Amino acid sequence: MRDLKERVAVITGGASGIGLALAERLGREGMHLVLADIEQQALDSACGRLTAAGHRVIGVRTDVARWDDMQALAAKVHDTFGQAHVVCNNAGVSILGPTWDLAIDDWRWVLDVNLWGVIHGIKAFLPSMRASGQPGHIVNIASLAAMFPIGTHAPYCASKAAVASISEALHSELRAENAPIGVSAVCPGMVDTRIHLSWRNRPQDDRPWSDREQMTAWRDAASEVQEAGIRPEAVADLILAAIRDDRFWVLTHPAANPGIVERARMLVDGQPPRVWMADQAFRS
Ligand SMILES: NC(=O)c1ccc[n+]([C@@H]2O[C@H](COP(=O)([O-])OP(=O)(O)OC[C@H]3O[C@@H](n4cnc5c(N)ncnc54)[C@H](O)[C@@H]3O)[C@@H](O)[C@H]2O)c1
Repeated sequence: MRDLKERVAVITGGASGIGLALAERLGREGMHLVLADIEQQALDSACGRLTAAGHRVIGVRTDVARWDDMQALAAKVHDTFGQAHVVCNNAGVSILGPTWDLAIDDWRWVLDVNLWGVIHGIKAFLPSMRASGQPGHIVNIASLAAMFPIGTHAPYCASKAAVASISEALHSELRAENAPIGVSAVCPGMVDTRIHLSWRNRPQDDRPWSDREQMTAWRDAASEVQEAGIRPEAVADLILAAIRDDRFWVLTHPAANPGIVERARMLVDGQPPRVWMADQAFRS
């Protein structure tokens, strides 16, 4: 999709991190912006910043896990700007914990946001994008975790593998009918954002597996690893290039690529996966 000027981009989780960096990048290309996020304060400040930079932007408080919210978001986009052209299903949350200890609410929260959020985004926007016949692009933010499932990160890895699979299936469907709509599956490694502080957006009434003290210890250990990640702006640049050049896979950490090949080779050779624990990395 080469012509972005005055086209409409919808970005879930657009109030911070990768989503906000992408909004800034697409804004500089002249796109009209819709930021959808659950965090009202961050949403207000992001919209203020983008408006001050001269972009046309609206913020819509949205919980991507709720189908009603996503339908309302699609209606708001239609009423304000008309057709959506780029939809970035980016909102995501993360939690760590042993698979057998994680509570049902932990699984539900991560899958509701990371997986159902993407399904809702596709269902809310793609039918009208197809019907319009206009060029468009769906950007789904998966993760390297889709390719490297690691211990104590099962819900997150499962959600991201599912997002990568959905994206591949969608790509086939849209190509098979020659639709002018591209799909990208973005698989970042570590990026310097506030994903390790995902708990800030957790529903108040659900019951996590671990107590606050344990989560605080893990979060503090994770923050150093997170801050050593690449800048979200670098990911935004790669996503923009993928939209323009209609590139499916967006891999942000080339050093991890041999590991992806090695995993595939071990799989067909019948070898068991490598033992790789997220919490070891965070605690060491
Ligand atoms: N940061 C990394 O290292 C990394 C690596 C790979 C993939 N990712 C993925 O990138 C995406 C963006 O995350 P980030 O790293 O920028 O983190 P972030 O926490 O900085 O941003 C996530 C945004 O999603 C919003 N959000 C959370 N729950 C929501 C909900 N239910 N509905 C709507 N919005 C919600 C948050 O308010 C926040 O603005 C996520 O899908 C994440 O899984 C991040």
